[in-house]
Amino acid sequence: MKIIYRTNFIPETKDIIELFNHSGYFPIADKNDTARITKMFHNSNIIITAWHEDVLVGIARSLCDFSYCCYLSDLCVRDTVKKNGIGKELIRLTKEMAGKECKLLLHSSSTAIDFYRKIGMQQIDTVFIIQRDY
Ligand SMILES: CC(C)(COP(=O)(O)OP(=O)(O)OC[C@H]1O[C@@H](n2cnc3c(N)ncnc32)[C@H](O)[C@@H]1OP(=O)(O)O)[C@@H](O)C(=O)NCCC(=O)NCCS
Repeated sequence: MKIIYRTNFIPETKDIIELFNHSGYFPIADKNDTARITKMFHNSNIIITAWHEDVLVGIARSLCDFSYCCYLSDLCVRDTVKKNGIGKELIRLTKEMAGKECKLLLHSSSTAIDFYRKIGMQQIDTVFIIQRDY
């Protein structure tokens, strides 16, 4: 399967939503809040997308300072192409863009924990969080 990866290209919000709906992942509760999703992407500075025959099949969206830390906020792969190495490659490209000085951090969903372990990420228990209101 030939997958094309694009860097810092922001897909149309409707295509992002369509991917979320076919990946078992939706970052916000209100799936109709297109303005919020648009804002999430336009205020991020590392966006890697994966494409198969012009169809958006994967996204990694991160916020990064390129000198110390990079927070990977959203990662998802379309159901039909899962287990083809796309998720792992999206993370590899994100870390490559962030640079050697950056640590890559993320908050895993319960179903993705074994994936992150599998690709060799370190799981730590010293992370703290102030949850968003909604
Ligand atoms: C988690 C997710 C991004 C993985 O993407 P993917 O493209 O299927 O993963 P890859 O093909 O790169 O997998 C890399 C390795 O992890 C394994 N793997 C993939 N998903 C796994 C899972 N959920 N549990 C355990 N192992 C998993 C693969 O089999 C592969 O192993 P291998 O190297 O021995 O072949 C994808 O399943 C997804 O979009 N899930 C729903 C959204 C989600 O939970 N995102 C994370 C939010 S924090």
